[in-house]
Amino acid sequence: MVKILEIVPSTNDYIKENMDSMSHGDCVLALTQTGGKGRLGRVWESRRGESLCFSMLIDVNKWEELTIIPLLCGLASLDTIGVGGLKWPNDIIIGDKKVGGILCECRGKRAVCGIGINLSQKEDFFRELPNGASLDMMGIPHYEAGVMAIRLRDNMLKYLNILNLDGKSGIISRFRSRCITLGCEVEATGSGTVIRGIASDINEDGELIIDTGSGLVPVNSGEVRLRTKRGYM
Ligand code: BTN
Repeated sequence: MVKILEIVPSTNDYIKENMDSMSHGDCVLALTQTGGKGRLGRVWESRRGESLCFSMLIDVNKWEELTIIPLLCGLASLDTIGVGGLKWPNDIIIGDKKVGGILCECRGKRAVCGIGINLSQKEDFFRELPNGASLDMMGIPHYEAGVMAIRLRDNMLKYLNILNLDGKSGIISRFRSRCITLGCEVEATGSGTVIRGIASDINEDGELIIDTGSGLVPVNSGEVRLRTKRGYM
């Protein structure tokens, strides 16, 4: 089921606060989110009716599945939008713009999967976010948030089924084919270090493998910027 909330600080926080009475697969959609959270402690801004603010509770069967749940969310998001690629780990990209993002937070074997997709904001919304855009700005047709949420839930369940049938490799192989980071020159920052090189693979734990020229370095968190014709994104 997708529960619609009129106004809430953050759909992820809502699930975390109400987790004891919620089950695997339960979803929430906020019409207005006032304290949206992004990755790496950032703020996720949204305006009523202009974006999808969605979270789903997933109970994994095995601990090792947790690391690929963010990748699974990215695949489900792309199928819901119909086009696009994924910048590792899970920025939703169309052209060279970020149209959505994913924040997964774990509580034991329960993953709170938050997905934000920019639907109909205009250019002014992204004045301070030059890499951001909405589906409208990119000319991508879409449904309103309520319909998108139902489709997103269905797509999440589809990929969870693939995970159950094919295991982690079923998700990783699909992610590789939609990942725009692979083959690019990248710069990974996190825990005080900078790793530069070519993104060469995603391993079975969902980590990005960077070929630095002097070795293969797995990266599992932090920020990865990739070099494009117009600079880093
Ligand atoms: C990112 O790219 O930094 C992740 C953005 C995640 C935003 C979504 S909106 C729904 C859910 N609730 C939140 O507070 N954050 C996520």
